[in-house]
Amino acid sequence: MLLNEQLQPVLNNIFIPTYVVKFGIYSTKLQRIVAIGPEMDKSLLALDDPGLFGNLFQADTVTVGRQEHSVLWYGAQILYFVRPIRCEGEIVGYIFACDNLDKVKADILRTYEKTMLGSVIALIIAIILFQEIFIRFKRELSLFADAIVDGHGKKFHSKITELNPILQYISEQTERMARLDRLNIIGEMAASIGHEVRNPLTTVRGFLQYIGNKQAFETYKSHFLLMIDELDRANGIITDFLSLAKNKVMDFKESDLNTVIREVAPLLEADVLRYNCQLELDLKDVPALMLDVGSLRQVILNIVRNGIEAMPQGGMIKICTYSDAPRVFLTFTDEGTGIPSEIIDKLGTPFFTTKETGTGLGLAVCYRIIQRHNARMVAENVPGGGARFTITFSQAAQPDNEVRK
Ligand SMILES: Nc1ncnc2c1ncn2[C@@H]1O[C@H](COP(=O)(O)OP(=O)(O)OP(=O)(O)O)[C@@H](O)[C@H]1O
Ligand SMILES: [Mg+2]
Repeated sequence: MLLNEQLQPVLNNIFIPTYVVKFGIYSTKLQRIVAIGPEMDKSLLALDDPGLFGNLFQADTVTVGRQEHSVLWYGAQILYFVRPIRCEGEIVGYIFACDNLDKVKADILRTYEKTMLGSVIALIIAIILFQEIFIRFKRELSLFADAIVDGHGKKFHSKITELNPILQYISEQTERMARLDRLNIIGEMAASIGHEVRNPLTTVRGFLQYIGNKQAFETYKSHFLLMIDELDRANGIITDFLSLAKNKVMDFKESDLNTVIREVAPLLEADVLRYNCQLELDLKDVPALMLDVGSLRQVILNIVRNGIEAMPQGGMIKICTYSDAPRVFLTFTDEGTGIPSEIIDKLGTPFFTTKETGTGLGLAVCYRIIQRHNARMVAENVPGGGARFTITFSQAAQPDNEVRK
């Protein structure tokens, strides 16, 4: 006890995690522990059977080891450090320190469990969040698909604003594909029906002309002329219709766009003046393009004619060309009524017309010809009134001269 009174205060002042570590001093002479820290454990001081400590206090050098069922930690596994205390060459005792390995392992396990639990919770939250995002995506995409089917794809605005540019692009491409599809169907019909209808028409026209010139039908001459006029009109429609045909052969040659416009200009001037309008050309230097000149003339005539028809009170039609390599632009701008927003998506649909005497083939033919040039046409309204049609050619584009059956 005397020894303990002297040594115990020293050990009590050592600060250490009490629940896993113990240290103390063992007296060989007394064969018992004489001081123990970091808290004085009287039950250990009372142990006077050295056998209970196993071979812990027998070595004559510093030893580090592991002991199962140690009395120092009430039967737990320990990791120990023991160092003999010598006095005049004789071992009088030992200083020792030991870890409760069971507690250390339990601590590690608890930390591991906490980490695992945290990870699992984070994973579950991430899955729920992703699921929520996917559900919203799915909902927005199915609303968008419905809008496309109803023909309102372009007006669709998603609540997920980041999606809008992508959806806008998809709806534009879908609209373009739908238009091409319609053109293809009509084109196939045109190819099969056009010729069959035109042949009997030509025969009937010939007979009308022949009979109408006979003296016996002199009184009906005006009726015959009217019938012939109507047949010519029908023939004109069939000509337009046939130019939608897929298998129409095109003759692409390297040509100057401005020359094509200048060549057709006198024809346009005559048309324009008749309807009290004016024509202005603003043609910048552009590189040569692979063009089917005959078809392109038709495009120019159709679009200018639409411009004239949109300006019953007269006005200016401007044709411009300019280049931004590798693209070449051809624009037609009028000062007419503009295109009502509800029909802008329908432009180019065969037989779509808002005119009493229109056939609705003019723009369909234009879109088909432009498609065969691998170019694009966009219609828009201009601020201050009027419409603009912009055709974009690409120098690199390979025109489509494939004759399909
Ligand atoms: N420059 C324009 N300004 C306003 N609306 C236009 C213009 N061009 C075309 N449109 C609209 O597009 C519709 C379709 O034009 P499209 O040329 O295909 O047929 P159309 O002119 O009605 O008949 P046609 O077969 O005789 O050309 C027109 O009926 C008109 O409503
Ligand atoms: Mg037209």
